[in-house]
Amino acid sequence: MITLPGLIDPHVHLREPGGTHKEDFDTGTAAALAGGFTAVLAMPNTRPPLTDGGTLSAAKFAAGQKARCDYGIYLGAGNENITIAPGLAGRVCGMKMYLDQTYGPLRLDGLYDLMRHFQTWPKASPIAVHAEGRSLAAALLLAALHDRALHVCHVSRKEEILLIRAAKERGFKVTCEVAPHHLFLTDEDLPHLGLGRAEVRPRLATVADRQALWENLAVIDCFATDHAPHTSAEKDSADPPPGFPGLETALGLWMVAVSEGRLTMDDIVERMHTNPKRIFRSPEQPETEIEIDEQATWVVRAADFHTRCDWTPFEGMLLRGRLRRVRLRGETAFDDGHVLARPGTGRDMYANYPTQT
Ligand code: NCD
Ligand code: ZN
Ligand code: ZN
Ligand code: ZN
Repeated sequence: MITLPGLIDPHVHLREPGGTHKEDFDTGTAAALAGGFTAVLAMPNTRPPLTDGGTLSAAKFAAGQKARCDYGIYLGAGNENITIAPGLAGRVCGMKMYLDQTYGPLRLDGLYDLMRHFQTWPKASPIAVHAEGRSLAAALLLAALHDRALHVCHVSRKEEILLIRAAKERGFKVTCEVAPHHLFLTDEDLPHLGLGRAEVRPRLATVADRQALWENLAVIDCFATDHAPHTSAEKDSADPPPGFPGLETALGLWMVAVSEGRLTMDDIVERMHTNPKRIFRSPEQPETEIEIDEQATWVVRAADFHTRCDWTPFEGMLLRGRLRRVRLRGETAFDDGHVLARPGTGRDMYANYPTQT
């Protein structure tokens, strides 16, 4: 049995409000605990998106009633909220910008609006971006011009990790995350997954892209899940939404890589606890730890999971490392397959956060 600090996932979609048939703060945080996460940062591409005080308060109220683990919520960058956004920075874990087409209507298209958000968002609060290809180059330039931190979500391609590596070498304040599916799956998995099921943004990339990510682990700060639940009926429909669930398979997948000698347990702790904690300034969680049976293996069955999402792209895979217990702020939150933490016991880690530098 090994003991690790509580894992922190800086990228989850909990779908509340507006998509609670896919997930809500209750089921999503139960899935988080069952995956070894004691804190999650929730994305603002809900319906409606979280872009102002009213929508943010409503989401925070729901989370306060239902969350079973600790959480933060991102504010979405829109074209209409540039002047009001900075006033909300003390209530969120950061600002999230969508620079490319992905799930939901939240998007920042114009360069001018992008520039203005970079100008006005407090430097002490992170900006996280969905930015693929040339959008990534634009976001990096603006971060450099404003000498501010930028966190790049779900890096998937060779040219992107090489660009981030070059930016880091030049001293840019850039950090990045990868999601397990981009390190374990490629476009060669499309036929067996099925085209609708395989839809995800960024798309599953080539074997060469995946190889470049593994070769540049030193450039990768965080392992995020990008837990993006959609029902199997939606994934099998004529207009399949992009996204995979990930909270309950991430640790087991990374531990497969440990057993194959491609990662160490220290690599995991650094990328799933230490670095996300530092980048998103998340508060200390006292008396918090997870216990894992390192050698145990298990077969992925979506039916066994706590998420409301009823399928996984990793169905049938043999994963490693069985989570036995989660302790969260002194309480046993998960024990031998059972989530014990009650809805409403999770804390908002950014209820009133200082954003002055
Ligand atoms: C995410 C979702 O479903 O909200 N989908 C995805 O494919 N990753 C949106 C996102 O993270 O870009
Ligand atoms: Zn994204
Ligand atoms: Zn996402
Ligand atoms: Zn039970």
